[in-house]
Amino acid sequence: MAHFPEGFLWGGAVAANQWEGGWNLGGRGPAMTDVTTGGSVKERRKITYIDKDGNHGTLDRHQKLPEGAHYAVLDEYHYPNHEAVDGYHHYKEDIALFGEMGFKQFRMSISWSRLFPTGLEKEPLKEGVEFYRDMFKEMHKYGIEPLVTIWHFDTPLYLEEHCGGWLNRETIDHFVRFATACFTEFKGLVHNWLTFNEINNTMPDPVFRPDCSDEEFAEACQHLHYQFVASAKAVQIGHAIDPSNMIGCMICGICYYPGTCDPADIIENRHRWEEKIFYCGDVQCKGYYPTFAKRIWDEHNVKLDITEDDLDDLARGTVDMYTFSYYMSQNVTTHKDVEIVGGNMSAGSRNPYLEYSDWGWSTDPSGLDYYLEMIYDRYELPIMVVENGLGAYDTVEEDGSIHDPFRIDYYRKHIQAMDKAIAHGVDLIGYTTWGCIDVVSAGTGEMRKRYGFIYVDMDDEGKGSMKRSRKDSFFWYKKVIASNGEDLA
Ligand code: BG6
Repeated sequence: MAHFPEGFLWGGAVAANQWEGGWNLGGRGPAMTDVTTGGSVKERRKITYIDKDGNHGTLDRHQKLPEGAHYAVLDEYHYPNHEAVDGYHHYKEDIALFGEMGFKQFRMSISWSRLFPTGLEKEPLKEGVEFYRDMFKEMHKYGIEPLVTIWHFDTPLYLEEHCGGWLNRETIDHFVRFATACFTEFKGLVHNWLTFNEINNTMPDPVFRPDCSDEEFAEACQHLHYQFVASAKAVQIGHAIDPSNMIGCMICGICYYPGTCDPADIIENRHRWEEKIFYCGDVQCKGYYPTFAKRIWDEHNVKLDITEDDLDDLARGTVDMYTFSYYMSQNVTTHKDVEIVGGNMSAGSRNPYLEYSDWGWSTDPSGLDYYLEMIYDRYELPIMVVENGLGAYDTVEEDGSIHDPFRIDYYRKHIQAMDKAIAHGVDLIGYTTWGCIDVVSAGTGEMRKRYGFIYVDMDDEGKGSMKRSRKDSFFWYKKVIASNGEDLA
């Protein structure tokens, strides 16, 4: 007997920059993802620019633009997010397929630069507003509730390039204007919101980024602080505009384990939870910085620009629910003689008890139950798992069918883990699998790393018909939803 409560919000998730495409349509301005090339598991995605002498250049994600250079789209590269999987023109078809699966909820994000092309405009673009309104109306036709992420890694490029991005306090105001426009324009159509996707990914992971200087670490903390304030202001405004709005934080939820029983590893592991998971969750759920923040700031010589008004906003703008992505667990160790494996902006030592995907991400359903029970105990807020899934290769058979038992198996085990957490008392209210339709991978820019129940005919070079097809997992998930998590066979 499964324990999912009546009204449990089953569904799937995508992000504008990975699904929508239409990067220069409808007056939309560019975002960083539009100057980010494709990549692979071996070769990192690059950000492209033209320097002051007209030479073409590329940067890694963490590097800064050289003096006098500007971000640019260059002919010699492919930019997979430009078209993505063309949700811009296919949303009706895609939503109909989600309806066919019985989705109760669809998580998507609003492209900031589709409403505010540079981020500086005073009013949102009408065309962008109409586009999303139509999408929300379409979802309601099928009884699908939108779950809207306001920011999913896509600050308008203009703000990044000319205004200092999230290292400039003024970006808070630009974001608040954007969020206010969303709450106002989509009032009555949307009730569930998330302010910042995987906000904690900005906090550098010491194994994934061993080269991170104290200066860079301090910038990350400042960037986060401005986002915390922006989120808290947005929460207050969202509640004032419509008191029925449920607004959540969104944390990249990795379950950390000590690599050995060496006490140094146990302590290192506790610190990893503090830095990577609790630092952001505590500020957004409790409304103030936790005590251990001082340790983190002292260790990296962080001096924050933080005001009394900020503290007041943080206290007033706590979230209504905790949401997170869950893909994997990670081992934390101080020992050096270990094999390092990584994924989703984090890394750790290989766990011999787990299997790893072709992209090096561990599969660990028990970590999901562990995480859910740990987090519920800490905050006692309703929880949603808003991303979970297995990035894998799919093969289209001659008759067009796609058999993905490995994906079904992955989901079955994670749904069982959620069921267990609910049975233990966790107030889990929703689940949206990641990339319910194949989308461009955020990490590698590939199409071949597929998560969907729905296959999209598009390859890594941008070739394909964009035709949508149902995988075996499509029919399986439909059954799961119809039985409210009872039938996982
Ligand atoms: C999360 C992001 O980090 O993981 C998504 O919120 C992303 O945007 C997902 O797509 C899976 O990562 P990847 O690199 O496999 O696309």
